[in-house]
Amino acid sequence: MNDFDPLNNLFPKPREEIINMHSYSAPLENRRNLLRLDFNENTLGPSPKVLEALQAINLDEISIYPEYNLLKKFLCDQYLDSRKFDNDEIGIFNGADAAINAIFNCFGEKDEIFLTTNPTFGYYSPCAEMRGMKKITCSYVGENFLFPIEEFREKIIKYNPNLIFICNPNNPTGTVLSAQEIINLSNISKESLIVVDELYEKFNGDSLLKSIDFEKTKNIVIIQSLSKTAGLAGLRIGFTFGNKSLIQYINKVTGPYDVNSFAITAALAALNDKSYVDNYVLEVKKAKEWIFKKFKSTRIRTHFSGGNYFLIWPNKKPNTLIQQMREKGILIRSMENKQDIGNSIRVSIGNKEQMRFFWNIYKELDFIN
Ligand SMILES: Cc1ncc(COP(=O)(O)O)c(C=O)c1O
Repeated sequence: MNDFDPLNNLFPKPREEIINMHSYSAPLENRRNLLRLDFNENTLGPSPKVLEALQAINLDEISIYPEYNLLKKFLCDQYLDSRKFDNDEIGIFNGADAAINAIFNCFGEKDEIFLTTNPTFGYYSPCAEMRGMKKITCSYVGENFLFPIEEFREKIIKYNPNLIFICNPNNPTGTVLSAQEIINLSNISKESLIVVDELYEKFNGDSLLKSIDFEKTKNIVIIQSLSKTAGLAGLRIGFTFGNKSLIQYINKVTGPYDVNSFAITAALAALNDKSYVDNYVLEVKKAKEWIFKKFKSTRIRTHFSGGNYFLIWPNKKPNTLIQQMREKGILIRSMENKQDIGNSIRVSIGNKEQMRFFWNIYKELDFIN
């Protein structure tokens, strides 16, 4: 009898890859009204202009299929101060997750190699498993989790991977790889597509997007989204940037109206209020400095690098601390299933006031002296 159907074949057997794959599960319920330092979201919410724009939406926007031209035009001309993009170099998705899935749909061949680092963002693996790909990973180097550049290079040469994912900065280690290193990697094998997940680049400022020429470098695609900085995680909006033909292929595997009108309206309002996002990023950077100094004066092991998050190895058992923090109104994230950092907790960084609140409770619960 098949595992998939204990009631005896009441529905068709799913593909073998789906039966064997691990689900991506995230504890996402009952998070309202708590200080959410568990998913690296914007902790203050979007610009007030986003709410105004959503409240002003008229009925047509609800009854008619969404249109993307205005947002596309904005992305081409104004997304970055330093450069413009061609319309065909951009894809719009229902969050970065949908972009990731679409890339695997487009390029992930059964039995081909998917190369990434470990630990890294958890959604890449199920996407690779769904396509029956073989996953190969490189661990980060040393106590500071440096990028395993030599091993990565060797593995590209040895396995000629179909798809390579670099999370930059990496979630959860914060590890940053320079734009030039990524370009160098893309020159090793033109048959490998390198996907650079830049969800957290604004907290570092070393985005490849500023300098890459997609006419010259055809085998890199960059993902960004408005979840972590602009505060639109609930509305789901993400982008891909790449060579025109490549983007065309990725667009082929997405539905024509996958991104809804509310997300488009909110994205335009959020992007138009650039100073709001810039100020938020600045606040987070200041708060990071502040909390870094607080931990420095203790014996607690921490790891601070890129991104709006850091790792702590608490005195207490991580799950005990996580539960106690929750009871005090603060959510933080266990890393128990992550290689090399299994005893740590990831804490997202909000503004200074929020980090002070976190610190006072953390101190009380984890006995720092
Ligand atoms: C590295 C990374 N990529 C992608 C995502 C998904 O982002 P989005 O909300 O845009 O789907 C996340 C969310 O946590 C992330 O950390």
